[in-house]
Amino acid sequence: MAYAKYLLQALLASGLALAASKCDGTDKPITIQSQGDADELGGCSTIKGDISFHEEAAGDFTFSSIQKIEGSLIARGAANVTSISAPQLRSIGDTFELQGLLRLTSLAFDELTSVGSIKFAALPELQGLQFTKGVTDAGSVSITNTGLVNLNGIELKTVGDFDITANKALEEINVNNLKNSTGLFNIAANSPKLKVDLPNLAEGKNMTFRNTSDVQIPSLKSLTGQLAFIAVDQETIRAPNLTECGDLSLDNNRNLNNISFPRLTTINGGLSITNNSELTDIRGFPNLEKVTGAVDAVGKFEHVDFPALEQVSGGFNVQSNNDFDCSQFDDLRDNDAIQGVYECKANESNPTSLDGTSTGDGDSEESEDAAISNLVPPTGLTALVCGLLALLM
Ligand SMILES: *[C@@H]1O[C@H](CO)[C@@H](O)[C@H](O)[C@H]1NC(C)=O
Ligand SMILES: *[C@@H]1O[C@H](CO)[C@@H](O)[C@H](O)[C@H]1NC(C)=O
Ligand SMILES: *[C@@H]1O[C@H](CO)[C@@H](O)[C@H](O)[C@H]1NC(C)=O
Ligand SMILES: *[C@@H]1O[C@H](CO)[C@@H](O)[C@H](O)[C@H]1NC(C)=O
Ligand SMILES: *[C@@H]1O[C@H](CO)[C@@H](O)[C@H](O)[C@H]1NC(C)=O
Ligand SMILES: *[C@@H]1O[C@H](CO)[C@@H](O)[C@H](O)[C@H]1NC(C)=O
Ligand SMILES: *[C@@H]1O[C@H](CO)[C@@H](O)[C@H](O)[C@H]1NC(C)=O
Ligand SMILES: *[C@@H]1O[C@H](CO)[C@@H](O)[C@H](O)[C@H]1NC(C)=O
Repeated sequence: MAYAKYLLQALLASGLALAASKCDGTDKPITIQSQGDADELGGCSTIKGDISFHEEAAGDFTFSSIQKIEGSLIARGAANVTSISAPQLRSIGDTFELQGLLRLTSLAFDELTSVGSIKFAALPELQGLQFTKGVTDAGSVSITNTGLVNLNGIELKTVGDFDITANKALEEINVNNLKNSTGLFNIAANSPKLKVDLPNLAEGKNMTFRNTSDVQIPSLKSLTGQLAFIAVDQETIRAPNLTECGDLSLDNNRNLNNISFPRLTTINGGLSITNNSELTDIRGFPNLEKVTGAVDAVGKFEHVDFPALEQVSGGFNVQSNNDFDCSQFDDLRDNDAIQGVYECKANESNPTSLDGTSTGDGDSEESEDAAISNLVPPTGLTALVCGLLALLM
């Protein structure tokens, strides 16, 4: 009898140990190939370590009882997985990575609110995220080449890097709660109809928008790094509350006809406005006082005005095919407010930017080297380099 009791205890203990170890993917990720493997995790509310899908996993998967994954949830190359759901899962400590799940159509994580980082790539059939409660907490988010039409379910308050690229059907990004973006914020090559709405974003670091049709940043007050709109399709670019930023680049925007930065006082870098074929008016900087890099504006401007400008630490290059008034900048030039080279040209048949790019009809090749060596003082380099980068990207 005593022996039987001992045996029972031993059995129970080993059962518990088994239960504990089956929930532990610390040494080696728990591998999921079939729903049976997922069912094995039935008694686990917390998974230590990682869960990883086998490449040959196929069909629908449900993790019915897991509430927390301390490590990562990873599926790479599992092309035949069609759905994943985890109705009780609240947090993933490390990475939530799905890559190359070519047939995935459904992702249902109703309780998920916190993720170390999200990396979704090559999920062409995934059109929506069923994150009912909403992920409010993620260190970084990268979503590329998916079928998503919106990012509903991503409801971050703060985020590090936020990289949303090549989602051809993505027409709407609305991150209502986002207040602070502390890393690289990059939006590019999604649907040309993409509208980005960041109603409460107040602070950013480095933000780049490409190929968008509308960007609303009504609350954005300051950026420590660059703000760039490159090859966007929208007619208007406005940042009504922005007071300070690093490099500001508005380049290659074919429909742009109105820019509005009514409160911007300081650019801690260069200002580049080049190759916007519909832009005739740059009077959108009524309060701009200081540019620590170069001012480089080239186009078909008929109206140019920087009424508050007091200091430009780099060069000042404003050139237009059309007629505008250069004499307004005489004082700036004569008072040494511009530390770099000064160039202001109206009716210029071949207007040339600091990096030597011509947006006029003439031959720009010849002027390229001259433009760089003559016009770019050392302090204007940031603007130049960023301009070149923008062209390359
Ligand atoms: C997916 O299923 C197809 C058809 O059954 C099969 O040929 C292919 O090898 C599977 N892919 C993976 C990654 O298992
Ligand atoms: C935004 O994040 C940065 C970096 O963590 C921090 O310095 C800043 O205070 C934050 N701003 C707000 C409004 O929370
Ligand atoms: C800012 O972001 C852009 C695009 O994401 C990148 O190319 C650039 O290097 C970043 N700049 C800095 C200073 O990190
Ligand atoms: C985005 O804009 C670039 C120009 O910089 C263009 O080459 C590219 O085709 C556009 N992509 C999309 C998806 O519209
Ligand atoms: C713009 O900034 C002002 C002053 O800091 C603030 O009171 C206002 O709420 C901001 N507007 C928006 C839309 O965030
Ligand atoms: C100027 O912008 C157009 C789009 O409006 C683009 O196709 C072209 O490549 C740009 N030119 C340069 C020199 O970047
Ligand atoms: C440009 O946009 C601003 C801000 O939306 C607006 O107040 C202004 O009237 C617009 N200007 C033109 C010429 O459309
Ligand atoms: C530019 O050309 C127009 C029309 O020919 C002329 O009226 C104007 O005075 C010129 N402006 C300058 C600055 O040369």
